[in-house]
Amino acid sequence: MDFDEVVRKRKMIREYDLGRQIPNEIVSRLIKNAHTAPSAGHTQVQEFIIVKDNATKKKLRKAAVNQEYVEKAPVLIVVCSNVSRSVGRYGNRGKEFYSITDGAFASMLILLTVVNEGIGACFVGAFEDNKVSEILELPKDVKPIGIICIGYPAEKPGKFERINIDALVHYEKYGSYNGAQQSSNI
Ligand SMILES: Cc1cc2nc3c(=O)[nH]c(=O)nc-3n(C[C@H](O)[C@H](O)[C@H](O)COP(=O)(O)O)c2cc1C
Repeated sequence: MDFDEVVRKRKMIREYDLGRQIPNEIVSRLIKNAHTAPSAGHTQVQEFIIVKDNATKKKLRKAAVNQEYVEKAPVLIVVCSNVSRSVGRYGNRGKEFYSITDGAFASMLILLTVVNEGIGACFVGAFEDNKVSEILELPKDVKPIGIICIGYPAEKPGKFERINIDALVHYEKYGSYNGAQQSSNI
């Protein structure tokens, strides 16, 4: 698929065809692409937990403010950051900031690959970290960043409107809005 088409088509899908499993080859391609994600200082903190077990999904749903698609999605990829590979080098910045950025980059690659594969996904960030860690038996240094719910789409949600781009882009300094002159560039 054309790259711009992938980017423009991407939107969160929260209802799935419950009769269709995601083939392992697709899951494998999602992970392989996520594995190419950048990481601060090439610390490669990103790790992935693939969850298909119904009992585990049910527990994760409860840990994720009862969002039902966490239980219903045929497969979940829980993106984690293993800060043991970054905290020694970057201290608190590695633990509190790079870990999240690195996990987010890997997650975005999964979300875009999902579109290219013709399936659907929703990134879930609203969850209790300690509960997710307990359910998945994550070691102390492994931090859950996002639960990506994946399945064949059973809905076609409309696109959410975005704030006008001219109100979001600033030239040289914040607030120096120069939309009249510059907006045609974007
Ligand atoms: C950090 C982050 C956390 C999110 N957490 C949730 C979540 O817990 N549940 C959910 O349904 N969607 C979640 N989303 C998805 C957003 O609601 C969604 O991206 C936004 O409404 C725009 O919709 P779109 O991605 O379909 O364009 C999250 C997105 C981000 C980036």
